[in-house]
Amino acid sequence: MNKLVIEGGVKLNGEVSISGFKNAALPIITASLLAADKSVIENIPLIKDVYILKNIIETLGGKVHLSDDGVMTIDATNVENKTAPYELAKQLRASYYLAGVALGRFKGGSIVYPGGCDIGARPIDLHIKGFEALGADVKIDHGIIKCNGEGLKGTNIYLDFASVGATINIMLAAVLAKGNTIIENAAKEPHIVDTANFLNSMGANIRGAGTDLIKISGVEKLHGCTYSIIPDMIEAGTYMVAAAATGGDVLVKDVIPKHLEAVIAKLREMGVEVREYDNSVRVRVTRNLKNVNIKTLTYPGLATDLQQPMAVLLSTIKGTSMVTETVFEARFKYVDELKRMGANIKVDGKTAVIKGIDKLSGAKISATDLRAGAAFVIAGLIAEGTTEIDNIQHIYRGYVSMETKMKNLGAKIVRI
Ligand code: EPZ
Repeated sequence: MNKLVIEGGVKLNGEVSISGFKNAALPIITASLLAADKSVIENIPLIKDVYILKNIIETLGGKVHLSDDGVMTIDATNVENKTAPYELAKQLRASYYLAGVALGRFKGGSIVYPGGCDIGARPIDLHIKGFEALGADVKIDHGIIKCNGEGLKGTNIYLDFASVGATINIMLAAVLAKGNTIIENAAKEPHIVDTANFLNSMGANIRGAGTDLIKISGVEKLHGCTYSIIPDMIEAGTYMVAAAATGGDVLVKDVIPKHLEAVIAKLREMGVEVREYDNSVRVRVTRNLKNVNIKTLTYPGLATDLQQPMAVLLSTIKGTSMVTETVFEARFKYVDELKRMGANIKVDGKTAVIKGIDKLSGAKISATDLRAGAAFVIAGLIAEGTTEIDNIQHIYRGYVSMETKMKNLGAKIVRI
């Protein structure tokens, strides 16, 4: 079951419900280990990354139950300070949050150095800079990050780049440190706010999450809590772009429209009709769309995770569109596969120049990363003929039941 086969030419129509946010669930599940207590986390997306993290926590001595409707109960009372198995940790980029937890709860520990992936080297120098500023001694030795954090003390940390991972990891280490920590040039993404809200529900004292200056006053102890994960703004954006690309009419439900402002604005600029309701948005194409230029930025700019789906949408819109990727240094690798479907895209460093063509043509292509995989599904939906995508395990790392949700919108898609 590692391929998707898609017949192109169908306009998506109907309603799709968005699942909990992968990039909020992963840090929040990990943050629950900061307390020797029980927590209940709802609206967990049933995706591969969550199951891998569940396995990691169980190997560390935690008890985790995940129900079919996405309610996770975690008992972290007996979690031990040991290194997660390499085979599991290497599959999950977000396993680096275990470093913040090791420093927060155990004042030190060793974690597997996370690998890069197909969108860039993905260093963690800013995470380490933050830990060292708090007084930890961090060494990387044979692929293991060894942190010794006796007596972590609050301090001021300036992030050279508003890194999501570094902002969250420093929060995880600082919430139980002595004294006050300030993170300047902090990332402002909704999942930073969600993680800070979760930590505050555990008894932490974090203010300013969602702005570029986060203040953390260290506390003695944290306790378990009950919490619900925010909707996945990237999954929502992916379905909005798919609706626009196929010329369809889709109601994307269970979202927070505020988190979608950048993609809503860009789609409207192209001439897509987007209607916002309390917790849903309706995307409808009623006229020929216009080419536009896009530039990915940290929140509240257009999310880098929507760059690949947007490029597919632009690939069949008349005129020339420029796509500039400012967050990752190698997030255009998927373009070669799109060219095999006839796309006219020239990549020059951080920019891709897209000349719209009439139609993509179906082909056999291979997913290289999570968001490229989702972009290829959109390409298959709008291409002439049949598209076969393999390596779809990437897609199921971050999208709940994508083929089922797309089929319910009328797509001709089967998983084989
Ligand atoms: C998170 O990755 C997300 N992953 C990514 O989503 C997302 O693309 C990214 O944030 C940006 O929004 C998770 O949340 C699990 P960063 P993260 O630290 O934390 C550089 C997806 O598809 N950097 O904000 O790794 C880095 O190389 C994934 O769901 C350093 O140089 O992103 C990159 O160029 C893909 N040093 C830029 O900052 C560091 O210490 C942004 O990285 C850390 C990052």
